[in-house]
Amino acid sequence: MTTARILEDGTALELFWTNGGRSRFHANWLRDNSPDPDTRSPGNGQRLITILDQPADIRLASAMVDGSRLEIKFRPEEKAVSFSLPWLKAHCYDNSHRRAPAWTDPVIDRWDGSLQAKIPTASWRIVARDRAALGAWLSAVRGYGFALLTDVPSENGFLCKVAESFGYVRETNYGRWFEVRAEVNPSNLAYTNLGLQAHTDNPYRDPVPTLQLLACLENSVDGGESLVVDGFKVVEILASEEPAYLRLLSSYPARFEYAGIPGVRLRAKRPLIELGPDGELIAVRFNNRSLAAVTDVPFDDMPGYYKACRRFAECIEDPAMAVTFKLAPGELFIIDNTRVLHARKAFSGTGKRWLQGCYADKDGLLSTLAAIEEEELTEAAQ
Ligand code: FE2
Repeated sequence: MTTARILEDGTALELFWTNGGRSRFHANWLRDNSPDPDTRSPGNGQRLITILDQPADIRLASAMVDGSRLEIKFRPEEKAVSFSLPWLKAHCYDNSHRRAPAWTDPVIDRWDGSLQAKIPTASWRIVARDRAALGAWLSAVRGYGFALLTDVPSENGFLCKVAESFGYVRETNYGRWFEVRAEVNPSNLAYTNLGLQAHTDNPYRDPVPTLQLLACLENSVDGGESLVVDGFKVVEILASEEPAYLRLLSSYPARFEYAGIPGVRLRAKRPLIELGPDGELIAVRFNNRSLAAVTDVPFDDMPGYYKACRRFAECIEDPAMAVTFKLAPGELFIIDNTRVLHARKAFSGTGKRWLQGCYADKDGLLSTLAAIEEEELTEAAQ
């Protein structure tokens, strides 16, 4: 059975778990996370106290395990609180596991070109009316950072309805959605028939759009295939080859700019590889067209920075990393724009290539997915 022991004059306690192992918890932390209705709203789960409501000299007066619960008393408040042991185990922070820089959550599946044989695909006809199918498709987007959708009505702007099935459209100066087809005087190179190097979209925005949807209304040209590359896999390869490259590209900001339309001057200063404070890989930004002069790398590090950029680009361009497909009318693909780069092969002037794109926010997608997963767990438990 699990037992508890108070440590260091009540500033912490130690739990010895039934099946081995032990975890320490601080009195401050336990008070802050007390599950009682005066601390957490039973209705919405939000915290009702602030750090200032907690005595600065808070201590544990007593601690006792009773079945699957930990009963504790704080002093000087004389407050009694009951914790669920499974909850404490799930939220334990007393571990010393060090993770390699650019680590990712276990739900993230990094991939290379071998994903070609099993491109995550769903049908809008099913996803639109079956919540479990929608959950499975969103889960693929979370895991792989991209997925295809078939049977999408070829209606003007219909891709916004797809975005609204899980979240919200992110409107920009390009509009609620935008056309991607050849233009005579393009305001953006995307609107020509040239091939486009693999890139993430709009790194000159802060925050960057986190999802992009591209729907095909017409595609009768020769060529014009779409190509996607997992930027997180590229970072993994880069870091394993030369850790200094990861350090250079993640610790110095790059600058991105877009000024292709009168009245628009978008600028952002962010690294090509963004890591969180604990080394988690957060995002990649790679867009040759909108990369401005890099001025935040010290003189002595600039040669290494360029070497790192070159190797990063080589890995991105490596055909073994790419998954390629040619969108047909009624097909759409969605990408996590903080992770998966997309490219377009050149196409000939005969025929038409007409795509529509829109942006959406990943937090909305992840929220809908988490809600679906919770509903499924509740249903399974009944
Ligand atoms: Fe793009």
